[in-house]
Amino acid sequence: MKIIIINGPNLNLLGKREPDVYGNNSFEDYFSQLQFKFKEVQMEYFQSNIEGEIIEKIQEVGFSYDGIVLNAAAYTHTSVGIGDAVKAIETPVVEVHISNTFKREEFRHVSYISAGAKGVILGFGLQSYDLAIQSLL
Ligand code: DQA
Repeated sequence: MKIIIINGPNLNLLGKREPDVYGNNSFEDYFSQLQFKFKEVQMEYFQSNIEGEIIEKIQEVGFSYDGIVLNAAAYTHTSVGIGDAVKAIETPVVEVHISNTFKREEFRHVSYISAGAKGVILGFGLQSYDLAIQSLL
């Protein structure tokens, strides 16, 4: 079982960035916990602040991996390109968000990812990633 977690812009700053919204943990620390918990899963992590790099990664893994956990962050609400990439591939994508985007500003209520995703998990903090992996298993 091969799964990749793809994180979009500013998620490299988790732990430092708006801790009241996103918590105090860095994603690297949390990723180690996930690897420890899901030992049977071959798990990779990719983060980029650049839209095209995220599209390239989705295309690269999207015909061979068993699952993609995608938090496209701010690009969720703007990127037709990432949304199209999700629709173009065969690997199932679970869209995740740390925060409950529906409790926040209206521009965060729109997702260009959801229509192509197998499902969406949001609002459970970093645990959203754990739930997404469970759903793929
Ligand atoms: C986010 C929600 C987005 O609206 C925001 O731009 C992010 C993070 C989340 O995980 O809650 O960067 O995707």
